[in-house]
Amino acid sequence: MQALLSMTALLLWHLLHHLSALSSASKCILQNDFEPGFMADGDFLIGGIFPLHYNQEMPDLNCTYKPGPVQCNGFDPRSFRWALTMKLAVEEINKRADLLPNYTLGYKIFDSCAYPLTGQRAAVAVLNGPNEKENPMCLGAGPLLAIIGESGSAQSIVVSRILQPFRIPLISYFSSCACLSNRREYPTFFRVIPSDDYQVKAITKLLMHFNWTWVGVVRGDHEYGRFALQGLLKELEDTGICVAYQEMIPLLYDHKRALEIIRVMSYSTARVVVVFSAEGELTPFLRDYMEQNVTGIQWIASEAWVTSSVFTGSEYYPFLGGTIGFGIRQGQIPGLMEYLMTVNPESYPSNTLVQELWGALYGCSSSTSGLNNHLPSCTGQETLREQHSAYMNTSSPRISYNVYKGVYAIAHSLHNLIHCSHGKGPFSNFTCANIHNVYPWQLQHYLQEVSFTISGETVNFDMKGDSIPSYDLINWQRGSAGNIEFVNVGMFDGAKESGQELVIQEKTIMWPGHQTEVLVSVCSNSCSPGFRKAVRRGQPLCCFDCVPCDSGKISNRTDSIDCMACSEDYWSNADGTLCIPKVVEFLTYDAMGLILTIIAVVGACLTLAVFAVFLYHRNTPIVRINNSELSFFILLSLTLCFLCALLFIGEPTSWSCLLRHTAFSITFSLCISCILGKTLVVLAAFTATRPGNNIMKWLGPTQQRIIIFSCTLVQLVICTAWLVVSPPFPNRNTKYQQSKIILDCSVGSDLAFWCVLGYIGLLACVCFFLAFLARKLPGNFNEAKYITFSMLIFCAVWLAFIPAYVSSPGKFTTAVEIFAILASSFGLLLCLFASKVYIILVKPEKNTKQHLMGKDK
Ligand code: TRP
Repeated sequence: MQALLSMTALLLWHLLHHLSALSSASKCILQNDFEPGFMADGDFLIGGIFPLHYNQEMPDLNCTYKPGPVQCNGFDPRSFRWALTMKLAVEEINKRADLLPNYTLGYKIFDSCAYPLTGQRAAVAVLNGPNEKENPMCLGAGPLLAIIGESGSAQSIVVSRILQPFRIPLISYFSSCACLSNRREYPTFFRVIPSDDYQVKAITKLLMHFNWTWVGVVRGDHEYGRFALQGLLKELEDTGICVAYQEMIPLLYDHKRALEIIRVMSYSTARVVVVFSAEGELTPFLRDYMEQNVTGIQWIASEAWVTSSVFTGSEYYPFLGGTIGFGIRQGQIPGLMEYLMTVNPESYPSNTLVQELWGALYGCSSSTSGLNNHLPSCTGQETLREQHSAYMNTSSPRISYNVYKGVYAIAHSLHNLIHCSHGKGPFSNFTCANIHNVYPWQLQHYLQEVSFTISGETVNFDMKGDSIPSYDLINWQRGSAGNIEFVNVGMFDGAKESGQELVIQEKTIMWPGHQTEVLVSVCSNSCSPGFRKAVRRGQPLCCFDCVPCDSGKISNRTDSIDCMACSEDYWSNADGTLCIPKVVEFLTYDAMGLILTIIAVVGACLTLAVFAVFLYHRNTPIVRINNSELSFFILLSLTLCFLCALLFIGEPTSWSCLLRHTAFSITFSLCISCILGKTLVVLAAFTATRPGNNIMKWLGPTQQRIIIFSCTLVQLVICTAWLVVSPPFPNRNTKYQQSKIILDCSVGSDLAFWCVLGYIGLLACVCFFLAFLARKLPGNFNEAKYITFSMLIFCAVWLAFIPAYVSSPGKFTTAVEIFAILASSFGLLLCLFASKVYIILVKPEKNTKQHLMGKDK
């Protein structure tokens, strides 16, 4: 309780102390004065803030004496024209009978010196009465209803913050920072310029249009630059455009830093540079840039400097010609030219700004002025200085037109406010504003709703206070005098649906350095079809290598990220751009197939010829002694063996698959069985010559047939079982070689296949073994050594065949198989019959029993 009491006492004491301090100050005195540039009284007062100077000298604030007034340097005729446009618009409106009849608009125009601090001062000054010294007591509503201003976003932010507590609307003609669209922070801010949100969209579209995927960004050190860069980076996400570097020109211009930036620009592979900056910092920067003699850069200018007359001089052309960028749309201000002509030192004798204008335009000071005494007096003969000729060029006003629209927006809103019908008003209880005491917030309501047309264009504000987003695409081309001209080469209409916003007349564009082609600015060249992108580690996505697609995969677009695999029956072509049907491979009647066919047919014919010879000479001893019946059997089965090879040539069908191995194995079994029979007979015949051995009895022709038949039967049984249980079938083999489809016969059952071969092998081995036993037996007709030899060849051929067969499927395997068949058949044919045919045909004298019995030796 006591603590509370003592607290209250302390508070009271403080309060009293303050009151006495207040009463001791007798009256308010102005701390500093700040005169408006232009001023006119009216029923409704609006303010204007323009950067009439582009530079200011900071008063030194060492706090040992009262700081002097702000010193602004560098008169800017361009923004002076904006100010005059505001004056013109107000005067025009005051003359009109249909807009605000019976009321007049008054204005106060201040200079912000293109600096936030001075802008702030101008805003405070504008809030006071018509003149700071005649400050009326604040009775009722403030005298000021709205302000046209400011130019740079940084200044507008400051001014808008000051105006907020008084709810005074601020209409900007040049502040495009997206940050100003925030209604929570800037509730009374309006603008007649599109937000940079749209500009960065437009720039992104432009970059995409020309395939510039590798760009640098340079910006000034202010809100405008910062937010524009931020917006651009956001917009560039997912577009495949990468930013090679981001550089900032410092607020306090620094030559060394500028040279560093220029170095980065000239060494980077990004040839396109987007610049969010304004004349202020760009003028010294571009001067340094030109000194370094860097060329070959495609500048993309932001709206703040794309139509700036500062850079139109011919010295800029070699470096800046071809620059492209989005500018504020132009409009028509009737009578602006004539109005500007009326402004001269004679008609405004006491206005220092007009004197300065004269100094800037003609380089002389008029006799009536007290300042600019370092300039010669005007004679009246001076011509307009080239660098400021743009002041008089009112053919395509852009920012001036924005100012004009802004003033009209206020006038139309006021007009609507005045013509509010009682009982239907927008304010509480349907009241209207009191015309003699209009509050700025009431005007704000009408501003938000206003919509009117001016030279064919509708002006209104959206909920964020922004206006309709549309830009002209401007290209810097060479004028007749070697200077730079701004040529309209397209437009961007943000209100159109996406994809149709940007219209470019490409043919009319002039590129830097008189190039006819669009400059290329990419980090890596795009990957052609057949390749895919492989990002480089630690580098932006735009920098990549192109790697060819693996075989079996393709990419058919340029710049594809991935190669896609071809479907099962397709394979990539050599370039990796197309999936083509896989090559179907089988042994057909191509060169190899034909040769094999011919060999097989020749073999078969040869065998038949031997058959014929034997048949013709069947009664000669050599035929008879060698068991003619078996010989005929062998020859017939050999013919079949040769013909068997033909089954392996051509596309495998279910029938040829069934037949291939079975036919071959059966004919070969038959053949070898016969040879086996023959060997047995030879063996038996010699053993039989020994007394008491009656083996020949057991090897009569019938027995021989039975042996042959049963040996072949075994193979027949195996084959039948094979065909019944799991027959061979044609097969598309895609696994072995991925790029081909190999058509072959799957054996169905490996066991059966190897049984069949094994059985032939077994027969051959038995035959070989027996023949080997009989080889030493005497007699010229002894065939045993021939049989041994033939079986050796046979076994060698088939043993050699096994690894070839097991290793790789494909048409060559089939060829090898055929080759084995043919080789072994020829082996048998030659070994067994060549010598006999030779004797029969060439040496018939040896074809005698004596000779054959070896008794003629
Ligand atoms: N659109 C720019 C802005 O909003 C234009 C601008 C005018 C500007 N004056 C400037 C940009 C000064 C930077 C500095 O700020």
